[in-house]
Amino acid sequence: MASIRELIVKAGRWILLGERGSVRQFIRGKGNIFRAEEVTLNKVELDIIGDYNQIIIGRGSDLTNVCFRLRGSGHRIEFGKNCRVSRGAVLWFEDENGLLQVGSNTTMVEVHIAVTEPGSKVIIGEDCMLANDIDLRTGDSHSVIDVSTGKRLNFPGNIYIDRHVWIAPHSVILKGVNIGEDSIVATGAVVTRSFESGVIIGGNPAKIIKVGISWSRARTGTTMNHEKISK
Ligand SMILES: CC(C)(COP(=O)(O)OP(=O)(O)OC[C@H]1O[C@@H](n2cnc3c(N)ncnc32)[C@H](O)[C@@H]1OP(=O)(O)O)[C@@H](O)C(=O)NCCC(=O)NCCS
Repeated sequence: MASIRELIVKAGRWILLGERGSVRQFIRGKGNIFRAEEVTLNKVELDIIGDYNQIIIGRGSDLTNVCFRLRGSGHRIEFGKNCRVSRGAVLWFEDENGLLQVGSNTTMVEVHIAVTEPGSKVIIGEDCMLANDIDLRTGDSHSVIDVSTGKRLNFPGNIYIDRHVWIAPHSVILKGVNIGEDSIVATGAVVTRSFESGVIIGGNPAKIIKVGISWSRARTGTTMNHEKISK
């Protein structure tokens, strides 16, 4: 593990300022920029074919096993301050002008985020907690066709995850979904539509299973639920 101060690309060539760390690069294109000041990068891969893409990582962030796989031009990825990816992430961009914004203090264990179709966005607020095996995608990557008209039916949609949302393991968030502040996505959910603040959603397709909730990273008031265990 090593610390990188700044890595910047000019005219298609990556110029490293500061210590290199464990960053692998495969870049074809011009005007690509990667800025990561005072961050920790461990096994980070920059796999980019395209021009004028920007990756900006906020101070104090710590990324392990993150692959930035960008195809196309004008994409932008921004991590705020003190974000952490602890096990791995594949950040997959296609077409052009995609955007991924991750708010400060958000943590991820292991995620796959696909920003596909021109101008698509994934916006994740501050202090969110994404667990392992999470999939977020703004589009379906392939077309569903209405046979009677020959027209495409499945259009992309931006994803907005508000601040302080907890996404439990093995969940999928599909195109066009908004999730409100303080909400929880329960283990194994497949979320196909938007939900408000302060709810737990779960199942496939996800539905509200509890309302009027928030959550904390800390385990407060640790009392075993014996009644449940003895059932
Ligand atoms: C979101 C979660 C914390 C909610 O726990 P909870 O508030 O104790 O919920 P309950 O056990 O009281 O369940 C409430 C209802 O939702 C249902 N439910 C619970 N989890 C569910 C899930 N993952 N999918 C679908 N339904 C679920 C329950 O069956 C129950 O339904 P009922 O009222 O008809 O009996 C929990 O479901 C979860 O996902 N835990 C995993 C957390 C985890 O993996 N942490 C580590 C990594 S971050």
